Amino acid sequence: MAQPPGGSIRLGHVSDIHVGASDDVALDGLADDLHAAGVAATVVTGDLTMRARTHELVRARAVVDAFPAPTLVVMGNHDVPLTNPFRRLASPYDKFRSQFSGSLDPMLDLGIVRIQGLDSMPRWRWKSGRISDRQSELVVSTLAGSPAGTVRIVALHHPPSSDHLESIAGGGDFEEALVDAEVDIVLAGHTHVPSVRVLEVGSGDRTRPLIENIAGTATSHRTRGSLRSWSQLDITESAVTVTQHLADGGGWRPGSVQEFALPPGTHLPGPATG
Ligand SMILES: [Fe+2]
Repeated sequence: MAQPPGGSIRLGHVSDIHVGASDDVALDGLADDLHAAGVAATVVTGDLTMRARTHELVRARAVVDAFPAPTLVVMGNHDVPLTNPFRRLASPYDKFRSQFSGSLDPMLDLGIVRIQGLDSMPRWRWKSGRISDRQSELVVSTLAGSPAGTVRIVALHHPPSSDHLESIAGGGDFEEALVDAEVDIVLAGHTHVPSVRVLEVGSGDRTRPLIENIAGTATSHRTRGSLRSWSQLDITESAVTVTQHLADGGGWRPGSVQEFALPPGTHLPGPATG
């Protein structure tokens, strides 16, 4: 399907598939709906499996391979072994990497957007996330140097807006990196409930508003009161329009649409007016 005219791109944002505890009807139709929507690339923000079992990871790989390419995949807290403490400490990422090889912090450059993915799942934390100093530096080095006109995106499992027990350790430095790199959009998951908002990050006189899109669970049984969903993002140099796609009954249908001006920055022409 054709992309919107002008300098724009349509991305699919999928999260929390949870193969091993997923709804088969929603899972079977998900890739077709992404293709029917005409997304140019698909970002998957973690929790591809329920227990990081080998057969779950193999199926998750096949599921992602059916999504519109290129794909960018980061892991979630359910993608490390939950029930084997030895494996968790000794080789927490090996099983995931057996199916999703390459960097755990992958980058995808699509011209109008550049996306830095981050593995926010450290081996010693059970559920909440962590962004290391190295990863914060990676955000700045990858995105601050992107060409003018490029929308800057970070993708990770744990939302920066989370607080209390599930907050991101190292989050202060991470927020500073989001400010320094003039990040425009953060894509996350984890909550299983779709949400898009303007989020103020940083502290003191070094703050920045950005757009945080949390994709709901696409196919998990654990829906927490919302329909299963994925997010379609139509991105231009000045705005992002988020359309939720909902699994309703036997198939997928478009749901709510929300538009946000991108935050001011030196790399973009400025927010939309009028
Ligand atoms: Fe999840």
